[in-house]
Amino acid sequence: MAQLWGGRFTKETDQLVYNFNASISFDKKFYRQDMEGSIAHVKMLGKQGILTAQETEQLVAAVKEILKEVESGVLEISHQYEDIHSFVEAVLIERLGDTGKKLHTGRSRNDQVALDMRMYVRKEILATDELLNEILNTVLTIMENHVDTFMPGFTHLQKAQPVTLAHHMGAYFEMFKRDRLRMQDIYQRMNYCPLGSGALAGTTYDLDRYYTSQLLGFDGPTLNSMDGVSDRDYLIEYLSALSTVMMHLSRFSEEVIIWNSNEYQFVEIDDAYSTGSSIMPQKKNPDIAELVRGKTGRVYGALMSLLTTMKGIPLAYNKDMQEDKELVFDAIDTVKGCLALFTGMLATMQFNKEKMEESAKNGFTNATDAADYLVNHGVPFRDAHGIVGQIVLYCIDKKITIDDMTLDELKVISPVFEEDIFEAVSMKTCVEKRLTIGAPGQEAMKKVIAVEKEYLSQDWKKGLSDWEMELLR
Ligand code: ARG
Repeated sequence: MAQLWGGRFTKETDQLVYNFNASISFDKKFYRQDMEGSIAHVKMLGKQGILTAQETEQLVAAVKEILKEVESGVLEISHQYEDIHSFVEAVLIERLGDTGKKLHTGRSRNDQVALDMRMYVRKEILATDELLNEILNTVLTIMENHVDTFMPGFTHLQKAQPVTLAHHMGAYFEMFKRDRLRMQDIYQRMNYCPLGSGALAGTTYDLDRYYTSQLLGFDGPTLNSMDGVSDRDYLIEYLSALSTVMMHLSRFSEEVIIWNSNEYQFVEIDDAYSTGSSIMPQKKNPDIAELVRGKTGRVYGALMSLLTTMKGIPLAYNKDMQEDKELVFDAIDTVKGCLALFTGMLATMQFNKEKMEESAKNGFTNATDAADYLVNHGVPFRDAHGIVGQIVLYCIDKKITIDDMTLDELKVISPVFEEDIFEAVSMKTCVEKRLTIGAPGQEAMKKVIAVEKEYLSQDWKKGLSDWEMELLR
């Protein structure tokens, strides 16, 4: 037990209380951000004449040294300290004596932890953005390779109309693209520096908050010190965005599981991404997709948990807020793992073109097109719908498809049909005629692919972490 605040106490903290209160076992995760924040704080104190040039130099050098030692494993983060902030300060005092004791001038752990978490999460937003970029590239490659791979499109998990694999994948492209845009959006809204908010009411020292925020790569200081120490909105937004990523991955997983089933056989998951059964030798299970689907619950749980934790907290800082960390860290690790694994599984998955096409042919997915044919020959749509309904019934009875019917059989149901009906309901025509933007027709699809390619070639993150090189130089 080692703490920074013994002065006004006459008794030792109970060991259980200490353990309950301590956060070092998890907040050590942002040791780097904590020390980067301290370096910027000290530099600012030096610039403002609150610390002498010599003290500033000594402190900056010592924090950099501690960071290096922790990073290389020479210095172990000891759990005898309450939190990462106390640990760094204690080592600094051990090494620099009285100068070390000046580190915390004009700062509280409240604005310090608000800063550390923000910097950690800011980095993780970029990491999730990068993983989303990777899955988008993988999806786009599949789209480019399958503009003419026909498959059934479903509603109610019933075959509806034929689409292409490129088109089906394109739906996921849009989802992950929105996920990525959400990351950018959250980043921009949260990139303000809370350091200098003090415990809640700022400080009486002449701090230059613009300078610290600039050193740490923020767009500016937060504008209210009470909000600065107690705002956790960005974490809730991030957890919400991560939950949406998981919802998308989970839907995709569900489809992979269905497609990989013995009944569908649309895809074959690579051996490297599937697992066997300990009892049934024939089994090759889609465990990765199932786990991704399953882990969605725990990310949603983190969002609900933090929303609930925050809802009753009066201004400003309260210890409840310490609960944000484990939830957010776990959600980040979960989503990053799921994105990486799912992308790997997707990139190595084989698509069974024949099975997909055969399935599209056998589900009356061209029934709408048969009705449209009649409409184009003057039959009102509602009547056409009824006529094709009769045709479907006839085919079900005979165990054939519309394409298998003879013209004579068709004419018995409606004399409007002519020889060109077969061309009109062929799979190729059904898909290729759908040329409005966003539809599966090859020409429309190629236009969309070109737009998405252009989108992927732009990198909004360029230069965002230059501040780190600058600060640690
Ligand atoms: N471990 C604390 C947290 O995560 C740090 C802030 C402590 N501040 C305080 N007044 N006890 O929230």
